[in-house]
Amino acid sequence: MKKNFLNLGNQPIANSFLSSISRSSLKKEYFYKLIICFNTKNFLVSVKDPVNPKIQYTDQYAHRASESQTMREAFRKIAIKLQKRFKPKKVMEIGSNDGVFLKNFPKKKVVAVEPCKNLANLTKKKFKTYPFFWNKKLSKKILNENSKIDLIFSSNTISHIPNLKETFQAIYDILSNKGVLVIEDPSLSSIIKINSYDQFYDEHVYVFSALSIKNIVEEFNLKLFDIEKISNHGGSLRYYVCKQEKNYKLSSRLKKILKDETKLGLNNFKTFKKFANRVYKSKKKLVALLKRLKKENKKIISYGATYKSTTVFNYCKIGTEYFSYITDTTKNKQGKFTPGMHIPILPPEKGFNESVDYAYLGAWNFKKEIMKKEKKFIKRGGKFITHVPDVRIV
Ligand code: TYD
Repeated sequence: MKKNFLNLGNQPIANSFLSSISRSSLKKEYFYKLIICFNTKNFLVSVKDPVNPKIQYTDQYAHRASESQTMREAFRKIAIKLQKRFKPKKVMEIGSNDGVFLKNFPKKKVVAVEPCKNLANLTKKKFKTYPFFWNKKLSKKILNENSKIDLIFSSNTISHIPNLKETFQAIYDILSNKGVLVIEDPSLSSIIKINSYDQFYDEHVYVFSALSIKNIVEEFNLKLFDIEKISNHGGSLRYYVCKQEKNYKLSSRLKKILKDETKLGLNNFKTFKKFANRVYKSKKKLVALLKRLKKENKKIISYGATYKSTTVFNYCKIGTEYFSYITDTTKNKQGKFTPGMHIPILPPEKGFNESVDYAYLGAWNFKKEIMKKEKKFIKRGGKFITHVPDVRIV
């Protein structure tokens, strides 16, 4: 049974940055109710009413995985590691974005699946790219044109696809018998531990745990056999899934993580009710802090126009009365306005200057990288604000 535990209010599509805030463009802005629920049977946490993917993954899709040094390095390292461990002859990525992972493999070995046409266009000259949504029809088409796949990699994508049944059946069909599926997604235990409720937005239809992934893949004759904790996106899990357990032994680290998640209560509705209460308190505290700083006439901006911050701004109802603007390095976000709260986005070279007193870390998941980069700001007395793991000035 699915039980609701968190209501994050009316939210826009996190990726729908606006080019203009004229009355006619605001009239077209799409909002949906972001309610999060828990399935008491398979322990899966999900958005109650997912948005139609055709509205989300368009040829205007803004996120570029190569944008951060941290992520470029993370994808390079995992590509090398998987090549060494599984020695795949054929590799496929579901949600290949701008090719940041696949570029680490020989061209001939790889197949890219990416429904956002602007991103697929970036990789199609380099690798075989299928610019479509992942489903059984596509799996069949790829199988007709290629051999079976030995390694399927999917980072921050499976959790975005509402139809899990179709997703895993399509994976089962195309995976070679000894093949391995590797999934990376934000981890539910990290979210609960560090109160990062902003991991909930339209694209994150599911927030997986080892407990829920184990239950789900078993429904489709697949087995979770290994797992790794990774630091990506403020705490993620990398799941290793195969067709038959006999090919791969269950790892002791998987057993440990399953045990830890049970201890944390990720199989218990009560845990999520308590979390929702902490989220509400976090909102109150953030608004109070911003109000106080504004009263003191401080200039506050936000650092990183992330999808995550869209959840925070719209849930807390904080916009240009607090933030003068947001700075972001992504070219196609610059000059636009954030979804819902319509905060202008500037390139850092125009906005991250002497006039700024406080910068809210929209991209808190890159805190280390940002702190290193912005030593000058910190030295001259500039301060960062974060809400993770609790609201405070850093
Ligand atoms: P990301 O981590 O992908 O978060 P989300 O999935 O919630 O959107 O986005 C990070 C954003 O922050 C991205 O738009 C790039 C921006 N950014 C900066 O502007 N400066 C930086 O130094 C870093 C690391 C990121």
